[in-house]
Amino acid sequence: MPVTVILGTQWGDEGKGKAIDTFAGDFDFAARYNGGNNAGHTIINEFGEFKIHLVPSGIFYPRVKCLIGGGVVIDPAVLIEEMKSLGHAGVKLEKRLFISPRAHVIMPYHKILDGLYEEAKGAGATGTTRRGIGPTFADKVSYNGIRWSDFADKEAFANKLRMQVALKNKIIAALGGSPLDFDKVHDEYRGYYDGIKPFITELFGIVQDGLRNGKKFLLEQAMGSILDTDWGTYPFVTASTTLASAATAGLGIPPRAISRVIGVTKAYTTRVGAGPMPTEVKDDARAEKALSEVAATTGRIRRGGWFDAELTRFAAQVNGIDRLFLTKLDILSEFEEIKVCTGYEFNGRRVHYYDLDAYQLERVQPIYKIVKGWHSDIRGIRKYRDLPAKARAYVEMIEKLSGVKVGWVANGPQREAVIVRQ
Ligand code: GDP
Ligand code: IMO
Ligand code: MG
Repeated sequence: MPVTVILGTQWGDEGKGKAIDTFAGDFDFAARYNGGNNAGHTIINEFGEFKIHLVPSGIFYPRVKCLIGGGVVIDPAVLIEEMKSLGHAGVKLEKRLFISPRAHVIMPYHKILDGLYEEAKGAGATGTTRRGIGPTFADKVSYNGIRWSDFADKEAFANKLRMQVALKNKIIAALGGSPLDFDKVHDEYRGYYDGIKPFITELFGIVQDGLRNGKKFLLEQAMGSILDTDWGTYPFVTASTTLASAATAGLGIPPRAISRVIGVTKAYTTRVGAGPMPTEVKDDARAEKALSEVAATTGRIRRGGWFDAELTRFAAQVNGIDRLFLTKLDILSEFEEIKVCTGYEFNGRRVHYYDLDAYQLERVQPIYKIVKGWHSDIRGIRKYRDLPAKARAYVEMIEKLSGVKVGWVANGPQREAVIVRQ
């Protein structure tokens, strides 16, 4: 398939890093097209264990060229750190990593404002990663952003930055924060640019030549479908589009070139940060412990809940998902009984996810089906037919409820822990 998009169908952290690592070896290009270093994609392979924030997860396969598209916002300090740690692990980046000059740069004032807005909103806060994502995208669409291309002309860059620091200092001061020193920010960022400059190049020609020559592209979404700015649980969402369609603007790929969309879906649900989560487990300490996790980017606790078919069905429809990559089935092995949400009721009426806003979703009643668990260790199994019958029934129930075939089942964090079902 020439262009494959891999995306999460829930609230992020579905195991996209692992899914990408499964497929990337067969591709010529791997690319990021949205989000920024709010993403944390875990990959465990022969190089070690990585929580990747910006570099495409395909970087571990030497033949794969990696692109960071103009739709991504970049914190240069995080990128440089990530490049260093990949270098230390023996991963070569030269002539393999290409960064769009159109990508916007996360500046110190974006991170400060992210925190100040969250604090000002108190109980109504989104629970962002405080990486400056929202304020950077806000500057992008309000014509105040700074892109990598702006660094080329030193004087023009200094003027632009001086103006932005002055503007942002007024807002920072009004919100009770400490103003920034222009010279300090300027010198720090010129230093970052020197490190990143060799990797900056316009991607349009690379992508178009690749498409014309039948090269294969793997496009890696960050965040999850239900964090999408338009279709997620607004305002408890992220600031960039997370849908498959975002790859077209974020990378310069025509919509018709996308030939396959794979949806990565956890066998249960997690969510980091605030916002509605209809299937969150709150009254069962054992289940709560089993289903919650530690976040890859912020170290916060991910809220745990049962599988929500209403969400995955919606994500499948809005993204045009062809196949599901089901992760973390092994985590459900300890349960005698497993709950699955088949749909929602609101004020006694059957409703869909998309009928309600975030505040109504807080009050929705999930309709549960309770199934018997398989209650045995499935981590070493590599063939679908070797899974316990109850585990297979669970997988097949998910595909029936979601309306999409499950093509792969992951049963462990390691690279080899994938059962191919096709
Ligand atoms: P991403 O943001 O979608 O790439 O997901 P994260 O890396 O943030 O979170 C997924 C977590 O689940 C990571 O710690 C992975 O190592 C882990 N993981 C992925 N697939 C599986 C699986 O099938 N079983 C188990 N036990 N862990 C998994
Ligand atoms: P990956 O790619 C899980 C969530 C934050 C918060 C909301 C807005 O690893 O799946 P932001 O910092 O983006 O302004 O925060 O979005 N969020 C994620 N949750 N996984 C992610 O990325 C996320 N990226 C953002 O927790 O609720
Ligand atoms: Mg993650």
